[in-house]
Amino acid sequence: MTDGTIAEDLAKEMKQTSVAEFFERNRHLLGYDSKIKAMLTCIKEIIDNCIDACEEMIYKSKKKGKDYVLPEINVRVRKIGGERYVVRVIDNGTGIVKGQIPHVFTRLLYGSKFYKEKQGRGQQGIGVSAAVLYSQLTTGKATHVVSKTSLRSPAYFYDLRIDTSKNRPEIVNSGMLERFKWDHGTQVEMEVVGTYLNKGEKSIYEYLRRTSIVNPHVRITFIDPEGKKIIFPRTSESVPKESKSIKPHPYGIEVGDLIRISKLTKSKTVKSFLTQEFSRVSSRTAKEILNKVGVNLRHMPGKISRDQAAEIVKLMQATKFMAPPLDCLSPIGSNTLRKSLSTGLDAEFVTTVSRNPSVYKGRPFLIEAAIAFGGSLSTDKQVKIIRFANKMPLQYDAGACAITEAISGIDWRRYGLNQTGGRGMPTGPAIILVHMGSTWIPYTSEGKSAIAHYNTIMKEMRLALQDCARDLRIYLSRKHKALKQQERISTFIKYSNESVKSLVILTGEKEEGIRKSFDKLIESNTGTSLAEAGGSEEEKSKSNDEFENIDEFIKEGDE
Ligand SMILES: Nc1ncnc2c1ncn2[C@@H]1O[C@H](COP(=O)(O)OP(=O)(O)OP(=O)(O)O)[C@@H](O)[C@H]1O
Ligand SMILES: [Mg+2]
Repeated sequence: MTDGTIAEDLAKEMKQTSVAEFFERNRHLLGYDSKIKAMLTCIKEIIDNCIDACEEMIYKSKKKGKDYVLPEINVRVRKIGGERYVVRVIDNGTGIVKGQIPHVFTRLLYGSKFYKEKQGRGQQGIGVSAAVLYSQLTTGKATHVVSKTSLRSPAYFYDLRIDTSKNRPEIVNSGMLERFKWDHGTQVEMEVVGTYLNKGEKSIYEYLRRTSIVNPHVRITFIDPEGKKIIFPRTSESVPKESKSIKPHPYGIEVGDLIRISKLTKSKTVKSFLTQEFSRVSSRTAKEILNKVGVNLRHMPGKISRDQAAEIVKLMQATKFMAPPLDCLSPIGSNTLRKSLSTGLDAEFVTTVSRNPSVYKGRPFLIEAAIAFGGSLSTDKQVKIIRFANKMPLQYDAGACAITEAISGIDWRRYGLNQTGGRGMPTGPAIILVHMGSTWIPYTSEGKSAIAHYNTIMKEMRLALQDCARDLRIYLSRKHKALKQQERISTFIKYSNESVKSLVILTGEKEEGIRKSFDKLIESNTGTSLAEAGGSEEEKSKSNDEFENIDEFIKEGDE
């Protein structure tokens, strides 16, 4: 015991922890809270990066006028006993320069995508290093990485662990390799403890299937733990438009951001700092703001005080600025979405909508939605909801996600689906898909599986869903009308057959003549030519049976 104060005793116990140590203890924050989810998260984090790297390779090659290859991703999950699996993913993306390999895979909060203000899959530089951390925590094994950056350069390999106390790489082994699968790309192989789900909403199979739906230019080959090879083919040869990097918009800026950027900027004066580092800030507006704060326009940006920064941010929020440029977004596109949904599903009706970009907290975003209906989709179950953010599937935390809330807030009975009490999840033979693309997806946690409930985002989601729902209603009501018409014709034909027979007996006239008059009567009453209506009575009643379920939906939904 010392004679000092309690605070002094406590001071001796103070320690700092590294970010890696923090996440080691709080792995649930990164999406590693169950064995099923952990395995999926590892694969998801690796593949997110692969597709980013493949697209980057294409865009950079195009700019240099070079040939490029479309994205290829090979995934293999091998069971090596008990709950231990080896996950291996290979891509044909940019590859990673030798010196960077240890850092990107073992340092949390280390990456190339921070502050890029463009739509991409990675955001915070945690993803793949967290997967390495999880592997190390559960198996103690090093992660094996191979990467090659061009046809002429060799492939380098590293076996890596994370020194969690320092958040730095521990290189177990490294060297050069003669061969690599492609001219350029990266291979990541790690051992994890996990539970493998064969099929179902939360399975790796489903993750890959959904990834393939919204990334139709990517070919994915998957070898599952039983050795079965599944190919998710490329359904489009066209590469999505590259999203451009934009400067942060003043509405999304907080005091800390402003101070951080002011220390990094190359601008010499605070006025040029405001006009060059932020989008839509004109010279005149910058001058007005700085005059109000009382800062000399020639002041060095790095020298502005915290109070001045707070005042600048406050004034920025109160000033009218144009919305940020929207070419930083890369939508899936209505047609692509329709095509890949139609290829992957045997639905009888598909509708899609890609809304114009909008802005939340100064950050551009756009919402796309689709509804697939009928066909092979099951009828009485809850409608299947497929959620995406920046073209990657969200399979967990549906209850916490803005998409779920937007869907359950719509009265789907008005559009032809069943729904108890006009709120909650609808039921019926349908799939509802929603995608949010943004320069920054506001995830509810680092696990990146649910989108936060910003009002502007919710509103855009609702509008997109209602757009699709209206198309569904029109389709169903047309179908309903056609059915009713068929029914009327069938009834007429049924009675006319009886009547023709009786009239032949009563009048002694020829059947052919009487039948012709009856057919004319039916045509004028139903407004449909019998030749057009076509088919025998037997066939007609068969098609009516097929439509029975739809009838039930439309009864409630008809307005
Ligand atoms: N397969 C790959 N090919 C090329 N570069 C890669 C690959 N995997 C990772 N990288 C590089 O490593 C960096 C760190 O990846 P990591 O997944 O940790 O973070 P991130 O993708 O930037 O963000 P997030 O935390 O949202 O995933 C990436 O920014 C990228 O530059
Ligand atoms: Mg990543």
